[in-house]
Amino acid sequence: MIPDDKIIEIRERADIVEIIGEYVSLKRAGGNFKGVCPFHADSDPSFNVNPARHFFHCFGCGASGDVFSFVQRVDGVDFQDAARRLAARYGVEIPERRTTPEERREHDREKDEKNRRFFVLETATAFYERELWSPRGQAGRDLLRARGVDENTARAFRLGFAPDGWQNLIDHFRRERISIDEALSCGLVKPRSGGSGHYDLFRNRLVFPIVDAAGRPIAFSGRVMPGNESDAKYINSPETREYVKGQVLFGLHPARVALSKSRTAILVEGNFDVVSMHGAGFDNALAPMGTAFTDEQALLLRRRVDRVIVMFDGDRAGMTAATRAFPVLARAGLAAYMAPLPPGEDPDSLIRRSGKKRVEEIIERAKGLLDEIIRMAADATDGSGQDKARRIGSLQPFISAVKDGMERDLYRQKVAAAFGVEPSMVFRYLRDGRSGEEPAPSKRPTGLPLPGYVDERELIGLLVDLPGLCERAVETGAVALIRTPELRTMADQIVENNRHHSSATAGLLGDAQTNPVAAWLAKRGLERLFTDEELGKAALDEIRLQMEKREVEVRIADIDKQIQKAQGDDLKVLTLERQKTELRRELMAQA
Ligand code: CTP
Ligand code: MN
Repeated sequence: MIPDDKIIEIRERADIVEIIGEYVSLKRAGGNFKGVCPFHADSDPSFNVNPARHFFHCFGCGASGDVFSFVQRVDGVDFQDAARRLAARYGVEIPERRTTPEERREHDREKDEKNRRFFVLETATAFYERELWSPRGQAGRDLLRARGVDENTARAFRLGFAPDGWQNLIDHFRRERISIDEALSCGLVKPRSGGSGHYDLFRNRLVFPIVDAAGRPIAFSGRVMPGNESDAKYINSPETREYVKGQVLFGLHPARVALSKSRTAILVEGNFDVVSMHGAGFDNALAPMGTAFTDEQALLLRRRVDRVIVMFDGDRAGMTAATRAFPVLARAGLAAYMAPLPPGEDPDSLIRRSGKKRVEEIIERAKGLLDEIIRMAADATDGSGQDKARRIGSLQPFISAVKDGMERDLYRQKVAAAFGVEPSMVFRYLRDGRSGEEPAPSKRPTGLPLPGYVDERELIGLLVDLPGLCERAVETGAVALIRTPELRTMADQIVENNRHHSSATAGLLGDAQTNPVAAWLAKRGLERLFTDEELGKAALDEIRLQMEKREVEVRIADIDKQIQKAQGDDLKVLTLERQKTELRRELMAQA
């Protein structure tokens, strides 16, 4: 933890205009600076930076905070990370927590090694980059031209060229006093199999640096040059402490501003697709680098966007990969869409062949990914009962990945409509999760939204399933966190009933015909999602965390409203900003 006085010192010393100026072009307006907001689709300069008071505020979207919150948001890091970055940049020494001398030495050594690795990777990036734009890089530049990548885009991604030969990087490292061991630890060279000596991993390849969220190179992806297609198409750096496959997204750093502005990511398959998309102005394109889209990658996006448009290659493999990405996106709570490409095309080829207008049209016409998955399953059926049953059954994992209960029900109805079967049948067979008896068909008139938050209802459902958890739910404060009055009443009643050893749901169901919550509870009670006490406890903890988090978010939103009202009263705004920073920190600590 960083001591409070250090936080204040960093805030005072960091030049907020300089930091924000790297993302937003700012113009002076009196004592303030104005620019176009990086956090929402803005055309007017509604984004204000107040250097004297060390904070920013957008009158368009209400985004505001200090230099820490800005770095957190644009770089997608937590408070501690943002503070450390700014401390390093502005020369504020942060005393580490008291440790034994051995611990400190170990920590220093690790930190030195890590910094040194970053230095080695940076040196390699600069070397490949220089080579690309030198006479030796002609072939690399030709390939870029053939693929329609202009110099600005290539430079923004710091693309490079590894010249042909076994020792070009090794020789360069020798001149830079970088040892073979250091090159090895970064995965840039390999030992010769017979005897002594080492050789460069990347030879005669176009080099895509892979950077972390802060833009530092952590690995490389080298693409084969035309004429050498018998070699592996891509060679990637081996995994290191900094680079773990499936935990990075190619293009995340250059996309960061576009992501936070549009709250939308476009997921493509290839590195070249990312580069071409950015070149064509789709700055929010990213790729998972050859792995199937992972939960970790979804988490990287969750903080930054609400929607992901999957735009994979227009072939069978692309479709399969898109389908597999759905549960991952849904689990992360991201809305998933699909922008289907014409057969045989990928985003990069389509931009070259048909221009960016065409790509724009395809993006605009993107459909819900799960809708498409259901449609394709239905289109593929031969109509026999056996085949229909199998295909409907295969949709189970997709339906259960959908977090929201109402949404799940809507998708079940879509499945029924697409396959031309009775909805009740789909409701009977495509369950929410593990379930016991057959759930009763929903009495709730569909389309009528249930009151309260999903987590509040989940908690009630959990208590109905496992009344034994009632006391725990009260003691941990979960019940008290229910803010929707009618759900709170219901939870209190369940707890009360349990204390008197009467059936938890009896008496709550009287008006199931007219009251949507009662109807929902009736159905939920029959489903029995939870039968295991231990699993139930874990679920209770998770629900409570979720509710606590939302509580803080609501308070932040409330402060935002107060800030809007207090405009003009700088002192009040500042005080509110401070409170907000505190809450944000609390939120980060919970995460
Ligand atoms: N990939 C890989 N190793 C391979 C092939 C592919 O790591 N042997 C990864 C790369 O990150 C690549 C992505 O999978 O970008 C998608 O592969 P592909 O579509 O074949 O590559 P593109 O980058 O689109 O290359 P190109 O358009 O030049 O064929
Ligand atoms: Mn491609």
